Amino acid sequence: MNILGISCYYHDSAAAVLVDGVLIAASEEERFTRKKHDYSYPEHAINFCLEKAGLTAADLDYVVFYEKPLLKFERILQTTLSTFPRSWAVFGEAMVAWFDEKLWIKSQLQTKIGVKPEQILFVEHHLSHAASSMFCSPFEEAAVLTIDGVGEWTTATIGSATADWNGGGGSQISLSRELRFPHSVGLLYSAFTAYLGFRVNSGEYKVMGMAPYGEPKYMDEVYKVAKVDGDGGLTLDMSYFSYHYSPKNSFSSKFEELFGPRRAPESDFFSLTTHPKKDHPDWDDRVAVQNQKYADIAASIQRVTEEIVLKMAQAAHKESGGSKNLVMAGGVALNSVANGRVMREGPFENVYIQPAAGDSGGAVGAALYAYHVVLGQPRKFVMDHAYWGADYSLAEMKSAIKASGFECVEFDDDDRLLDEVTDTLLDQKVIGFYRGRYEWGPRALGHRSIIADPRREAMKEIVNTKIKFREPFRPFAPVVMEERAHEYFTTPDLEKQYPPRYMLMVSDIPEDKWDKIEAVCHNGTGRMQTVREEWNSGYYNLIKKFDEATGVPVLLNTSYNLRGEPIVNTPQEALNTFAASDIDQLVMGPFLVKKPEGYVATGSHLDEDQVD
Ligand SMILES: [Fe+2]
Repeated sequence: MNILGISCYYHDSAAAVLVDGVLIAASEEERFTRKKHDYSYPEHAINFCLEKAGLTAADLDYVVFYEKPLLKFERILQTTLSTFPRSWAVFGEAMVAWFDEKLWIKSQLQTKIGVKPEQILFVEHHLSHAASSMFCSPFEEAAVLTIDGVGEWTTATIGSATADWNGGGGSQISLSRELRFPHSVGLLYSAFTAYLGFRVNSGEYKVMGMAPYGEPKYMDEVYKVAKVDGDGGLTLDMSYFSYHYSPKNSFSSKFEELFGPRRAPESDFFSLTTHPKKDHPDWDDRVAVQNQKYADIAASIQRVTEEIVLKMAQAAHKESGGSKNLVMAGGVALNSVANGRVMREGPFENVYIQPAAGDSGGAVGAALYAYHVVLGQPRKFVMDHAYWGADYSLAEMKSAIKASGFECVEFDDDDRLLDEVTDTLLDQKVIGFYRGRYEWGPRALGHRSIIADPRREAMKEIVNTKIKFREPFRPFAPVVMEERAHEYFTTPDLEKQYPPRYMLMVSDIPEDKWDKIEAVCHNGTGRMQTVREEWNSGYYNLIKKFDEATGVPVLLNTSYNLRGEPIVNTPQEALNTFAASDIDQLVMGPFLVKKPEGYVATGSHLDEDQVD
């Protein structure tokens, strides 16, 4: 049985295909259209998934959409009408978008894909989230927690689920409690994201990155706008917010009266915490004090979010009758600091989150929900890795390298290639690592990565200014051999857990290791990825060789893209980014691509205004 799952029209559209309950391929649309967070109809992702599975549309049994458009339309109508006339602008915009395409999703899917109306199913947004985690996890039963901005009406759910390996309709998801719009943890966090000068739905990571530089001094103020009960239930005082009636602003003037004036978008960030020696080129004492307050506010909303998630996790534990397993999904499940706390402080032994925990993951979830719950089919699949995207043949790589004009060496022996790359890393140079199928979800996990030596603080600056062009306060992530993770991270039993495989949790780093991995130590913490040889031998062996040379089983791993661009997909894109940046060498399959002596990056003219 062949099922295509689709999520689109909000953020991060995606497609996924299941053959007899086994995931064959999944991808976000942005990797093909090169438009970050592309939310349009995922035509390219659908074509890729079908091709990878060797199917045509005629072979599909079902197409499943990740939410119920009419319920969502009802929420938008009711909300905008109840705040009319303040909402006239959002109402106008929403109506154009909805009447243009969203209301006609069923007929669109019929014509665009070429399936019959009875083959199209719709699954509620939070059920898609829940299924994306539960039916990818190894668990037979679990407590469920989904938290995001908003789906149709729901913004968070708790409940329980069972997953049946024998068939007979034993797979069920019961979301017994929910939080409803406009009360939303995701939208609360997004309002602070906008207030702190970042783009909503993409800048949330930056708030999390800024938080460790501040103290949570403004939690009382956050709790003034967001009342939280013992189970993590949330009631927002809507007089502080405007996302329910404004298309452009998330918070009201009353919010700024409480927290002070907003931070100018994308302005330079420095304070005594980030630059204790006042060595930022634009240093100004007054601005630094103001920036410190912003970092304190970031720390406060981050801490409140963690407290809410922890309380919700407790409530989910109770609701499930004390399950030892938790599955989480929704955009807030990408908050790796909160996830780390749930793993350490929550009542669960095991936590599962799949790599695309946000809305793109709904494509996989909707398809799995249809297969297991609607059709009652037994489970056959656990998502053990994140490599569900496209890969390219040796011939395609070879011809792209030839067209780029760069010199390259082909290695028959991976060991020799990795030896040479290790020497390059030890020389304080930066490597592009491009191998196999690209990752599902927002993180690069060694198939589309930029790799560097993590030992010295200066490497952060090198990667930031020469390649990524991004804000200096954003952390770089460590990747570590799984069996050595306990030496560098204090969270216990990391090798038994899934979130570190997908770089979805933050852990403390023991103090005696801070100066061993300075470039990936973010105020004593790190968002690590653990790697096992059987999952990814080339990547693992590179870390192993680096360890043999230095005694440090850790590398710096960041995504292979320039700032503001989606992660590279094709060999050509990898080579273009290589040419535009100061990446020194590129591992592309068995090829090692090099730059000539004195090479000047073609993109070195890029400045902050031109990129995101
Ligand atoms: Fe969502």
